[in-house]
Amino acid sequence: MTSQVALITGATQGLGRALAEGLARRLSPDDTVYLTGRAPERIAAAVEAMPAGGARVRGEVLDVGRPEAAALVADRIAERHGGVDIVFGNAVMRVGPEDDPRVIADAYTEVNNFGTTRLLRAFGPLLRDGGRMIVVASSLGTLHYLAPVLHDRFDGLSSLDEVDKQVAAWRDAVKDGSARGGPWPGFVNIPSKIGQVAAVRAIAAQRRESDRGRGILIAAACPGMINTPTSALWWDVSAAPSPAEAAVALLGLALDPIDPAHYGELVRHGRVLPWK
Ligand SMILES: NC(=O)c1ccc[n+]([C@@H]2O[C@H](COP(=O)([O-])OP(=O)(O)OC[C@H]3O[C@@H](n4cnc5c(N)ncnc54)[C@H](OP(=O)(O)O)[C@@H]3O)[C@@H](O)[C@H]2O)c1
Repeated sequence: MTSQVALITGATQGLGRALAEGLARRLSPDDTVYLTGRAPERIAAAVEAMPAGGARVRGEVLDVGRPEAAALVADRIAERHGGVDIVFGNAVMRVGPEDDPRVIADAYTEVNNFGTTRLLRAFGPLLRDGGRMIVVASSLGTLHYLAPVLHDRFDGLSSLDEVDKQVAAWRDAVKDGSARGGPWPGFVNIPSKIGQVAAVRAIAAQRRESDRGRGILIAAACPGMINTPTSALWWDVSAAPSPAEAAVALLGLALDPIDPAHYGELVRHGRVLPWK
């Protein structure tokens, strides 16, 4: 069997780092795990802390907020390995309750949303037979959390460009203040996570038939509440699972046999969360 290649975005801390560690442990020395992030020194420190004996862990700069970054790294990986087996889109820009949505909207959507669609565009074509591409979203990423009058914006989108257009429209409404007086939720995480799940649904709609034949899984995943500094800005997460504990179910999506019901859906602990 060809050596496996995996890549995780936002892997310098939190869940992403735990995913890198879990893959490093469960894959073989012939395999390669790309631990990626935005800051070279934090990438180096995280690589240094990875367990020995499993897969080789390589650090790579992939700032998902930079428009060209995903395509550049995908080209590099294609040259080195010819393809990829596991991709986790996990990176998130940290914001807290004190942040003004109008000020952070540009950077937030650039990292969390356009960063995700660029990752899907760049790495989708590289997926090998049996590959997995998982976007770490949240249970907040369902239409249940959006006013019904807004559902059409994200439901049934059939291309990543359409998803980007809707996310940009929401971002612009946040920036000019019109979102505040309208039906949009005030918590920016909600439309952003819905946009991520809509992106997975859009690419899945395009690839479903061919991916079924090739044993490929594309899905969004909710890790549940995790004790990380990001969630601690919003909630008391002192009793929540650690990143390593939260990573277990996601590692299952990447490494265990596929459940066809998960394809194109948002999955939490092995169960599909209804989109609407
Ligand atoms: N924590 C929870 O309770 C919870 C619940 C549901 C869903 N999630 C989702 O789980 C994922 C991980 O969350 P977390 O709590 O582990 O977050 P975290 O601890 O804040 O880690 C975020 C990671 O993303 C990286 N990052 C930030 N901006 C980046 C950029 N432009 N390019 C590349 N990497 C970037 C950070 O790098 P630096 O080290 O450089 O900052 C860090 O490695 C997110 O998608 C989040 O929405 C989390």
